[in-house]
Amino acid sequence: MYVHKIGLKLVIGLNLMLRDGTKWNPSNAKQLLKYSSDKGYTFAGIELGNEPNLYYRHWNTTVSDVQLGSDYKELKQVLQGTAYKDSLILGPDIAGYKDKYIKTFLSHGGASVIDVLTINHYYFDGHTAKLKDFSNYSIMDHLIPELQTVMSTIRSYNGLVAWLGETSSGYGGGTPGIGNRYVAGNLWLDKLGVSAKYGLKRVLRQSLFGGHYSLIDNNNDPTPDYWLTLLYKRLVGNKVFDVPSSSNNLRLYAHCTNLNNVYNYMPGSITVYALNLNSDPVILTISDLNIKSVDIFWLTPEGGDLKSQKVQLNGKTLELVHNHIPHMTPKTLGTGTMRAPGFGFIVIPDANIAACRPQSHGPIIG
Ligand SMILES: *[C@@H]1O[C@H](CO)[C@@H](O)[C@H](O)[C@H]1NC(C)=O
Ligand SMILES: *[C@@H]1O[C@H](CO)[C@@H](O)[C@H](O)[C@H]1NC(C)=O
Repeated sequence: MYVHKIGLKLVIGLNLMLRDGTKWNPSNAKQLLKYSSDKGYTFAGIELGNEPNLYYRHWNTTVSDVQLGSDYKELKQVLQGTAYKDSLILGPDIAGYKDKYIKTFLSHGGASVIDVLTINHYYFDGHTAKLKDFSNYSIMDHLIPELQTVMSTIRSYNGLVAWLGETSSGYGGGTPGIGNRYVAGNLWLDKLGVSAKYGLKRVLRQSLFGGHYSLIDNNNDPTPDYWLTLLYKRLVGNKVFDVPSSSNNLRLYAHCTNLNNVYNYMPGSITVYALNLNSDPVILTISDLNIKSVDIFWLTPEGGDLKSQKVQLNGKTLELVHNHIPHMTPKTLGTGTMRAPGFGFIVIPDANIAACRPQSHGPIIG
């Protein structure tokens, strides 16, 4: 009901640990699916198990890559006769990129079943992470080779796409006092940028609620990453450009602007997003474009404290107004040169980029 009312799509995970000897036992899954379809619930996606490569560590048991391929074939059979035969099948939700496990899973049946290859990603152990880890470009860069490997693996399978199926900064519940504060936006925005740049189709954030990395806090107030995510959704479209970064501590990404009725940007517009990891602002100049004006959405911590629970948009603290999202208005500059503290979005409304002119940006899921 909650998901339905706020317009979310739901992905469910079925229990892979219910087993008959070496094989998955789907009887409980069948009951759950029957119950759900009787209630009229819809699922955007269905997965089987969570982080099966960690079963030995967590549960002293194993489900091999080969066996998981067979279990997924069984899942496909089970779904055939149900209202969920067209739901996406996602998997295998591996913790970290384990090349051999994924390749064997795919070649032993997984590839004929799944629509979306999912891997989970965390940069570090949330309990031991330090404040400076959230601004460390080298930690951000660790994600890149993983994503390159994922993309080269799925390229052998026509139509298969990849998502980060569960992801945040630190595993184990996040980093107290840091993982849900302003500074967490560095890793989050960079992850969104890197994932899009290397061709992943979706990034599923851990978590909406709960843990030290949630988008909504225990008082039901948005955390800084909520505001960052909302602006990202509104401003950043699906077509991605390959923007070289000029330095390790200044990270730049560019997409066609998302065209929607919040800001009414025109086709041809592009959105650049930038992260300045230095402690001081830098001067950023966008050149080579015929710029009449740019709209900036710059996000900085309230009071200049990286661990602030409040984020400011162009110098004004973002807060719900009578429980509603406030207008988040850009500041318009008549030049492509600007001060860049922290991170933010720069929309170039008149860029008139050919690749961004067609209205349709295509579907997100392949
Ligand atoms: C793990 O499982 C094996 C086989 O069932 C058993 O012999 C062993 O005692 C278990 N180890 C632990 C730590 O529970
Ligand atoms: C950043 O992280 C790397 C590990 O990826 C570490 O070697 C380096 O010392 C860190 N830098 C700082 C300034 O903490």
